Amino acid sequence: MNIQENISLKLYNTFGIDKKAKFFTAVESIEELKDALAFAKKENIPAIILGGGSNILLTKDQEALIIKIDLKGIRVLEENEDSVIVEVGAGEVWHDWVQFAIHKNWAGLENLSLIPGTVGASPMQNIGAYGVEIQDIFHSLKALNRDSLSLEIFTPEQCQFGYRESVFKHKLKGQYVICSVTFKLSKKPVFHTEYGAIKETLAEMKVSEMSIRAISDAVVKIRQSKLPDPTKIGNAGSFFKNPTIDFQLFEEIKKSYPQVPGYPQDEGIKVPAGWLIEQAGWKGFKKGPIGVHEKQALVLVNYGGGDGKEIAHLASNIQKSVKDKFGIQLMPEVNFL
Ligand code: EPU
Repeated sequence: MNIQENISLKLYNTFGIDKKAKFFTAVESIEELKDALAFAKKENIPAIILGGGSNILLTKDQEALIIKIDLKGIRVLEENEDSVIVEVGAGEVWHDWVQFAIHKNWAGLENLSLIPGTVGASPMQNIGAYGVEIQDIFHSLKALNRDSLSLEIFTPEQCQFGYRESVFKHKLKGQYVICSVTFKLSKKPVFHTEYGAIKETLAEMKVSEMSIRAISDAVVKIRQSKLPDPTKIGNAGSFFKNPTIDFQLFEEIKKSYPQVPGYPQDEGIKVPAGWLIEQAGWKGFKKGPIGVHEKQALVLVNYGGGDGKEIAHLASNIQKSVKDKFGIQLMPEVNFL
């Protein structure tokens, strides 16, 4: 195990925030992970687990051991003519895994193309896009219990998935390290093209025969057209979750804004936070190196040299103005560290 001291985390978070870690290590095996956890215990400092760093906002230097999960490998566990069950190491890059599956003609992940981050982080917040969530193709996961240091298997029920939610963000927060995720993919694809601009994009691309490759290409095209590339402009994707509001409030907003978008749910109506933020006048806002993306108001950006605290401050100003204008409290999707 190689432990580095006082290193910059700039390359390890997609916002590109330059904060330091007191200690840092990358682990490639469960044994290394256990050693790293033991080291943090001995030093009496917190151990913080990092995947792709694509859903965090660093607001300060970390008096901690940052453990980057580099557990790799893709292993077929079961296969028949209809489906395949595949275990994937937590440290695999999400989009590389999606491309691997598409190449094998295993269906189910194509709508989730180009989501930044690693496989291990994907169940944490039940990642989703274009009408599909990871829970739709999730089989199980293996996680290390940080107390007992034993590996435990979690079924979908035990993960308690919700919209951008799982048990690992709530009841079991900080208690487990996800080491691998097992997916059940189909060899007989069901195409999900209803959501957003997928159909129009496929038509633009002049796709004559539907395939998971075509859907993946369309999703990549849509994402590239409105989401900033984190290797060029620092960001962590959607900064807030889309709020679900009650029917009464929705009807009230509709009186002044007849065009308000809304997606009915069991508990109310889901309204795109990006729309609310845009209406509150923030789209394209810039202050020094930080701002609100000009094509998607849900994405806060760091053009270079921005500070995490300033981004947190901007986020709280946005929350306040959306609350004042619409009476809706936005909740961050990104984790603050
Ligand atoms: N909209 C605006 N202005 C904006 C942005 C959006 O008016 O600046 C409105 C538009 O009316 C649009 C609607 O919001 O029709 C929905 O926008 P979009 O399709 O871009 O999706 P989203 O709800 O903003 C969610 C996810 C994204 C995911 C897309 C596509 C959340 C928090 N975000 O965004 O996920 O890629 O749907 O499925 O649920 C992420 O989590 O990091 C992420 C990028």
